[in-house]
Amino acid sequence: MTILDTRISTADEEFLLNRQAYDQVVADLHARRRRAREGGPPKARARHVARDKLLPRDRIDALLDPGSPFLEVAQLAGEDKYEGVPPGASIITGIGLVSGRPCMIIANDATVKGGTYYGMTCKKHVRAQRIAWEHRLPSITLVDSGGAFLPDQANIFPDTGQFGTIFNNLVRMSAEGIPQIAVVMGPCTAGGAYIPSLCDEVVIVRGQGYMYLGGPELTFAATGEEVDNESLGGAQMHCSVSGVTDHIAEDDRHALAIAREIVLDLGEQSSPRWTQGESLPPRHDPQEIYGIISRDPRIPTNTREILTRFVDDSRFQEFKPLYGDTLLTGFARIHGYEVGILANQGVLFSESAMKATHFIELCCQRDIPLVFMSDVTGFMVGRTAEQGGIAKAGAKMITAMASANVPKYTIMIGASYGAGYLAMCGRPFNPTAMFAWPTGRAAIMGPEQAATVLALVRGQILSSEGKAWSAEEEEAFKAPIRREYEAFQVAYNFSSNLWVDGILDPVETRDVMGLMLDLAARVPAKPTNFGVFRV
Ligand code: COA
Repeated sequence: MTILDTRISTADEEFLLNRQAYDQVVADLHARRRRAREGGPPKARARHVARDKLLPRDRIDALLDPGSPFLEVAQLAGEDKYEGVPPGASIITGIGLVSGRPCMIIANDATVKGGTYYGMTCKKHVRAQRIAWEHRLPSITLVDSGGAFLPDQANIFPDTGQFGTIFNNLVRMSAEGIPQIAVVMGPCTAGGAYIPSLCDEVVIVRGQGYMYLGGPELTFAATGEEVDNESLGGAQMHCSVSGVTDHIAEDDRHALAIAREIVLDLGEQSSPRWTQGESLPPRHDPQEIYGIISRDPRIPTNTREILTRFVDDSRFQEFKPLYGDTLLTGFARIHGYEVGILANQGVLFSESAMKATHFIELCCQRDIPLVFMSDVTGFMVGRTAEQGGIAKAGAKMITAMASANVPKYTIMIGASYGAGYLAMCGRPFNPTAMFAWPTGRAAIMGPEQAATVLALVRGQILSSEGKAWSAEEEEAFKAPIRREYEAFQVAYNFSSNLWVDGILDPVETRDVMGLMLDLAARVPAKPTNFGVFRV
């Protein structure tokens, strides 16, 4: 086992300038998280509290074990997408310990547009369910929502991945024995009423939680019947007459205490499938990563120096160090859990892709999770590469990566362009979890390359029409394309669209990975059948 060394001096001017720049980047990340944590506008928060309701984050605190971590999923989803909606898309999702058991918590934020569901709210709820499903985590939904945000119908109603998929997932998870618990802490109308109704066990708060397919106004309009909230869908009625809910609570805290008790009776927890070794910190301070990531995106970052500050005890058993060296592959531990790491160190060549294929096969055979650390501009192009069969080698890497049934994690630590993004287990390959560092970025190609390709196409069309353009005209054509690609590729665009599960400060990445591996350890291994490798 090799102990990774460092060649970086923390006194170097380059290091210090990079670090200064990254401090700003991290400060910006924390400012965005603060905005997300605040929730709705002060007026809505004050009104919520005046109704004797706990704010959603206080509810989560009261539900979790004291001192439990809370690994938030998609905290910045929907950022800057909807007017008047802070980052988070009116819902909070994350994993924490309830009565000693890891659970997925899904909490509506009624202070944001009445906790209604936009398209992104549905996507986030569904994503949290998917993570719970893959890890067999009991799900606790704290319901306080006006249901669909009606003007966003197209993104909520008709398609898969939208509101109806939440129901489908509830049922199918329950069918697989993954407990579904709901706590009704506010109104649940129409579709919203089905979320708790489809759960295994439901708590409802007296005088506060209501469930009905149509509220009093709709009932009057439809049938002429005059009825009050309580007798139409209140806690007493549902617990004693309709049987729609199971436990009655006097207030939020009582309801959350009941939910904690329900978790105590969920049966036996499964035992871990891997032995966790001792968790040793890296030999070099992870915070030094700030000074290693180049502040100029055109200057590549030395990934080996990052690994030195990322893995336990800086120990890395490198696989094929002399072959295909634009991809580092090797075994390491993170918080005591063994992982196989694939980290870019330049453009992907045939050799690096072949090495990746071989390494992924090894990890699958040994049931070792894969961690992809992407910082890649793509696969090598050109005659030599093509004649050397780069398409075949790249296809092998993609086949191995897509087939692998071990847990897969992707961290976009830098650029992630084109087929490189895909081959390094990009979102379309359903990694178990995918994160980006704030300076991570991804697009079909870099902004300059995209502007150049489109200008070439345009230039060809012009010349076929017998026209030409000046250098100024060409630049005027390219500038907006460059700008569009620059805006698209940023990590925060990826988190806002939920193309990644979160943006991580490099320093916290080890801890997040430790938690994820701990969850993955509790689900049974799945064998891998590889697709046909083109040889
Ligand atoms: N679609 C779009 N916007 C909605 C909405 C919905 N279903 N429900 C609430 N909102 C908006 C309100 O317009 C208001 O917007 P604003 O902040 O820009 O003023 C905000 O959400 C808060 O609503 P408000 O009624 O002021 O808050 P409240 O806490 O007193 O009541 C509800 C919240 C959800 C109980 C109430 O708004 C309601 O009953 N909404 C309709 C629920 C419904 O019938 N849904 C059917 C979905 S299938």
